[in-house]
Amino acid sequence: MNARVAIRGDLLDFTAEPPWGETESTAVRFRPDHWLLADAGRIVAVQADAPGEGWQRVDQSGRLILPGFIDTHVHSPQLDVIASYGTELLDWLNTYTFPAERRYADAAEAEAGAARFLDALLAHGTSAAVVFPTVHKVSCDSLFAAAQQRGMRLVAGKVLMDRHAPDGLRDDVDQAERDCRELIARWHGRDRLAYAVTVRFAPTSTPEQLAMAGRLCAEDPSLYMQTHVAENRDEVRWVHELFPEARSYLDVYARAGLLHARSVLAHGIWLDDADRAALRESGAQIAHSPSSNLFLGSGLFDWRAAEAAGAAVSLASDVGGGTSLSMLRTIADAYKIQAMAGQRLTAWKALHAATRGAARALGLDHEIGSFEAGRCADLCVWDWAAGPVAERRLEVARGLHEKVFAWLTLGDERNLRRTWVNGVERYRRDD
Ligand code: GUN
Ligand code: ZN
Repeated sequence: MNARVAIRGDLLDFTAEPPWGETESTAVRFRPDHWLLADAGRIVAVQADAPGEGWQRVDQSGRLILPGFIDTHVHSPQLDVIASYGTELLDWLNTYTFPAERRYADAAEAEAGAARFLDALLAHGTSAAVVFPTVHKVSCDSLFAAAQQRGMRLVAGKVLMDRHAPDGLRDDVDQAERDCRELIARWHGRDRLAYAVTVRFAPTSTPEQLAMAGRLCAEDPSLYMQTHVAENRDEVRWVHELFPEARSYLDVYARAGLLHARSVLAHGIWLDDADRAALRESGAQIAHSPSSNLFLGSGLFDWRAAEAAGAAVSLASDVGGGTSLSMLRTIADAYKIQAMAGQRLTAWKALHAATRGAARALGLDHEIGSFEAGRCADLCVWDWAAGPVAERRLEVARGLHEKVFAWLTLGDERNLRRTWVNGVERYRRDD
């Protein structure tokens, strides 16, 4: 394989954060019919002219090319429970999710599940992700190994859960700490992998386990932390009962030393102004998971309030609470949630949150999220339209925002043609 590859198409990325509500934005960089040049996995140039000899040319003209999507919150074992009927969060966990996660104690199951999950991400246009496997060390090892084989940027960690979970899904503080330290030594900073101290959510960890998690973060500030916060009203009430000393749900994490610039907190629907200020001050981000919030009936996230408070917001599928790995479908749901509050989410704001914005919030914008020279060549090629309805809509669309908004509202993984990761083609569909 030629290490020097040049890909031709309509290139779209961002040079800054687009302001709320602006459909015309200087933060958008659209370079139709350009060539993106990658050498040994890195982007070296974007140019209007075809490159000279020595470049493998891949002509995708007439198609849209974006940086690979970044899904900042998704559960690898939950492909087995996606689209499960009839419950809100706490019942959903007990009825469907916990039983399914038990299977991942088995090494062969964990290995097959990790491969299936990562290949599915790539087939949906997602090249980087922040992922929950299960409580079992082997599920985390399998996930990292599979991501390494595919050259992917992955942030993950063994799930911590030492109470309020069924047999076969609980650890204890000492064993969990040993497992975390072993996994950190094996995977953190290796190739494109990073470890996240992974507290499932406050109810399933004792205060002692939260304190242990906080110690790990304090020892090594390059570690990520991922968890859930303020997703569902019954959950929030339960957390208040379990941690009466904390001012709020988010404060449980803050008090344990788990709120910092590398914290990724899923949902954050039921936050108040003091919580949002704490997010801004810590540099932590909310992984907004619109599909999951609708499917589980959790609530409507106030993106505008988070933005106004200066809190970082990225986008996430939260499969299997969410019903699709597609970040296009995720964005379409995010738009509808904002519409319910009389707000308008622009295509630019949404796409930025799924690419450069997520990369920045993760401290990875030197590596992913845009087509700047020096970034890894993680990119996807999309058909502008799939099927006659979208074709017609695109045909009559006026202006770039209208066109891109129609693409992302009508599109999904069926629009995807190619996924490159680190300059290597990892997904292809030619029919
Ligand atoms: N809260 C604790 N665990 C989970 C989970 O697996 N999914 C969602 N959506 N919320 C959670
Ligand atoms: Zn989740």
